This record gives sequence, C-alpha cells and structure tokens, in this order.
Amino acid sequence: MDRIRIRGGRSLTGIIPISGAKNAALPLMATALLSDGPLTLTNAPDLADVTTMSGLLAQHGLRVERDKQARTITMSGAATNLEAPYDLVRKMRASVLVLGPLLARYGQARVSLPGGCAIGTRPVDLHLKALEQMGAEMEITAGYIEARAPGGLKGARIIFPQVSVGATENILMAAALAKGTSEIVNAAREPEISDLAACLMRMGARIEGLGTDRLVVEGVPSLGAAVHPIIPDRIEAGTYACAAAITGGQVLLGGARLDHLGAVVRILRDAGVDVAEADGGLKVSRLNGLRGTDVMTEPFPGFATDMQAQFMALMCVAEGAAMITETIFENRFMHVPELSRMGARINFHGASAIVRGVPKLSGAPVMATDLRASVSLILAGLAAEGETIVNRVYHLDRGYERVEAKLAAVGADIERLPG
Ligand code: EPZ
Repeated sequence: MDRIRIRGGRSLTGIIPISGAKNAALPLMATALLSDGPLTLTNAPDLADVTTMSGLLAQHGLRVERDKQARTITMSGAATNLEAPYDLVRKMRASVLVLGPLLARYGQARVSLPGGCAIGTRPVDLHLKALEQMGAEMEITAGYIEARAPGGLKGARIIFPQVSVGATENILMAAALAKGTSEIVNAAREPEISDLAACLMRMGARIEGLGTDRLVVEGVPSLGAAVHPIIPDRIEAGTYACAAAITGGQVLLGGARLDHLGAVVRILRDAGVDVAEADGGLKVSRLNGLRGTDVMTEPFPGFATDMQAQFMALMCVAEGAAMITETIFENRFMHVPELSRMGARINFHGASAIVRGVPKLSGAPVMATDLRASVSLILAGLAAEGETIVNRVYHLDRGYERVEAKLAAVGADIERLPG
C-alpha cells in the first residue's frame, strides 16, 4: 500500500488548480442511466471513485469512454443489467445513486444495500421511503434492495424529515422521469444538487427551485443527450485553503468559487485566514497568527462536515481553544487519535471535540482511516517539525487528484512512497 512522506515547515506559495467535484461527478454519472445519451461530462476529475462509478455503469451495460487528458467522460446506451452488485456498492456508497434512475427508466432495480462505512452507519431509509411514496414497491432480501415500479414512478410531495444529499439526488433523478409533478421539501442545498439539476435540465428535465430547499419537478416522458461541465470541488478548495493557512503561505486556488464554500469562508476568516476572490479563483493567505474558532458542521450553506477534519488540523496550531461539533455523522473523529500522535491536544466526548492549540506539532507515522481524516493528517504533516508518514493513502486517492503533486508544486516537501 502506498504511503506519503512529508517533511514539514515550508510555507506554500503559488497556484493550486482545483479539479472537478467528486461529489458532483458521481450523481452526474448516474444520470446517464436516465437516457440513451450520450451524456458528456467535462472538467471530470481523475479519481478512484470516478473509476469505480465508471465500472458500475459499464456493468449495467452503458458504454463509458474516459479521456483523462481532456478530462471528459462520455456515457451512452441503455442498461441491459439492472443489478448493482455488493462487491461494487460496498466499495463506494454513492453506488446507491443508480437506484432512482434505474427505477424511473426501467421500472425495476436490484441494488445492494451499501452497508456502513468508517464514519457512520449511513442508512438509506430516506431514499427508500421517498421512492415508495412515488409508487415503488421495495423489499430488502439478502442485503439487496429489490425495487419495482411496473407502471413507472408517479410524482409525489416528498417531505424529508432531515436533510440528505444522496436522498435528494436519488429523488431528483427519479422525479425527472416520473408521471406528474413532484415536490421535494427540505431538499439538500449543496452546490452539487444545483449542478445535478442543471445537467438534468440540459437533458430536458423541468425543474424549479434550484439552490433552495424546495424543488419542483415536472416529469417528462424521456430525456436526451447533453454536454455538462462539472463544478469545481469546493471541498478540495477548502482543504488547500487550510494547507495555505496551516503553513502561513499564500496560494491561488485556480477555478475555486467563493459562493460554493458557504460558512467555511466566514469561519476561516474568523480564524485569521484571508480568503478573497481573485482573477481565476480564490486567493488564500495567512500572515498573522491563527485564532481558535468554534465550529459546528451543518448542511449547506453551513460549515461542511467534509471540512471538519481539515479545520481541526488547523485548530491544532491556533492560539487558544476551538470547540468542534460534528452534527452530521456519528463517528467522524477518527483523525483525533492520529493528530494526537503528532502532539495535538484534543479531547472529544460524543459529538464535540475541544482542541487546545499547541505551538508546534511533531512529525510521526500515522494511519489514514477515511478520505477526509487522511487529508487532515497531510495538513498536520505540512506544519509539523520533522517527518510524517501517512499510511493507507488509498483513502486519499478516492477524493483528491494527485494530492502530492499539487502540494509539491507550491513548495511542500512531500512525496509518495510506493507500497
Ligand atoms: C454526501 O453523502 C457526500 N457524498 C458526503 O461526502 C457528505 O459528507 C454528505 O453528503 C453530507 O454532506 C457524496 O456526495 C458522494 P447524507 P450522503 O445523505 O449523501 C443520514 C466525502 O467525504 N441519512 O446527506 O451519504 C446519514 O447517515 C463524503 O466526500 C439517513 O439517516 O450524506 C447522515 O448522518 C463523506 N438516512 C446524514 O443523514 C438516509 O436515507 C447526512 O447524510 C440518508 C442519510
């Protein structure tokens, strides 16, 4: 297994290009099941999860052509296999996003339950209940969701009891081809949802309320071809903003959008980080000390849970203390023991962690456990004295394109050690 070695203490300066968003690309790829296409996605990131989703669509029978140099993915053709198998779904939970499209287009689907993952049990009950409201018959047998909608799905008024990005995406895709009008209330408002809606509209879908928590979808008989650019990855951008801040550097995040960062901007500014729009992206710098700043993760436009581990790494070397509360997932503090090995002073109890800043972290061998925890260890290593070795970096490759190359290009002493 590959490892990444970092020798800390260098401040980052220069331009970091931001890739297309992983959490936009995955649902966008699932929409290819809604029409014979072709659906071409541009600004496509070169990530392990995109490769997994390509494989899933190919085993459904679609033709998937990826051009990594041109950063495009083109999907076309009809599904000939309506089953998403366990061995693929367990590798990537976003596979469950094929359920809505398969049901809406083919009236049938057999999708493995994703099962939990490191950060939580992550049930899909909200997806299933909403699809049942649209007329689907659901059964769980042998770990699989057996879903049928022989007469097709019908429009319904779906009120989500809690915000769910994936459930909003599954229902949005299903509603696009349902008979009649659907209303999705308490819909997630993440930029990836609006990007998915924009792509569906390019394919001929009729959707109102983009960017709000109430989406109205008028079902259409069929959808067509489209070319759609994937939005830049706001979590990658936020991650590298923390890298600039933790090393006291100044970087331009190429292609990043301020409006996609929501409360992350205000929190970073409160912590003493300058974040400003500039030609071609966002300029991030930190000239004075970091201030301990409390944060609570919330659905967009609140502070993103996918930024929690990265911000915690930053707070480890801030002046004073920071209270970090994780409200979205029940087990998203696995970076804490690893950061503590580097000299961080963190205590957590339940959903809240108190971080007391220390003058310096020290490099150490540490273990990556999940995607965002892994990158928080990279950030800590960039600021630490000495050498940090991050093990199990396959977690990183799921969501960060060429992380060591992008950081080395702005001055980090970082390299990948083949496993
Ligand atoms: C998406 O996951 C993202 N993944 C996650 O990013 C992100 O952390 C999450 O949204 C929240 O923003 C992708 O977009 C591929 P949810 P998703 O449904 O859709 C509970 C990363 O690091 N819930 O909004 O699975 C759930 O357990 C990943 O890039 C139910 O109870 O998240 C969680 O506590 C990690 N029942 C909360 O809702 C359901 O049916 C939010 O989950 C669905 C969700």
